Amino acid sequence: MRKPLIAGNWKMNKTVSESIDFINSIKDIKNDCVEGLVCVPYTSLTEVKKSLEGSDIKLGAQNMHYEDNGAYTGEISPLMLKDIGVEYVIIGHSERREYYNETDQTVNKKVKKAFEIGIKPIVCVGESLEERESKKTEEKIKKQIEEGLKDLKEEDLKDLVIAYEPIWAIGTGKTATSDQANDTIKFIRESLKSIYGDVSEKVRIQYGGSVKPENIKELMSKSDIDGALVGGASLKKDDFEALINY
Ligand code: PGA
Repeated sequence: MRKPLIAGNWKMNKTVSESIDFINSIKDIKNDCVEGLVCVPYTSLTEVKKSLEGSDIKLGAQNMHYEDNGAYTGEISPLMLKDIGVEYVIIGHSERREYYNETDQTVNKKVKKAFEIGIKPIVCVGESLEERESKKTEEKIKKQIEEGLKDLKEEDLKDLVIAYEPIWAIGTGKTATSDQANDTIKFIRESLKSIYGDVSEKVRIQYGGSVKPENIKELMSKSDIDGALVGGASLKKDDFEALINY
């Protein structure tokens, strides 16, 4: 019912020419049962869009501003992304929350703007190691859902993607166990249901944090995991292919 979404988050990696070479090596990957996506740096978006022509792989950005335009030096507007043909945008990644002071309030503004403009948001939530160890995972995530996804239109929910990314599992090689991931994702859906009701069943909820070819099958075998948001492993052709064809 919910088609799994396997998304690569390139973060701050690959020049334009490296991006084109990489896309040419992966553009023929095809799995009718899975949606594949690459979220590339702003500088590569236009060329990657061209290189992806005829490919099943979709294009995403890693962030955007919540205003259409204005005096925001260094920022990228949703209109600029839409103009390039970007289909998805990652919002509120833990690195942006940690290093660039993004809050649930800015996440909420960005999510609403993304829907307004017709770009599908992938909203990241997740707890730190300290929060997990002090049993505050659910409290943290509930707040991120309630505040970050506040006042959305019900009809937009079908295009919402949430990525559950425990901060302690990102780039560390430590993956949450598939049961930990599945249980937290179930909790996320329940939290969403208590706000929006049954339409929440349409929202895809991915797991992210050290996903690689060796653990994708196990994660995807779980009842509630609808895909993966992948950093490091998405930068290598063979790994990305193995992830899409899990
Ligand atoms: P990782 O990153 O796969 O390198 O752990 C995941 C992410 O930050 O989205």
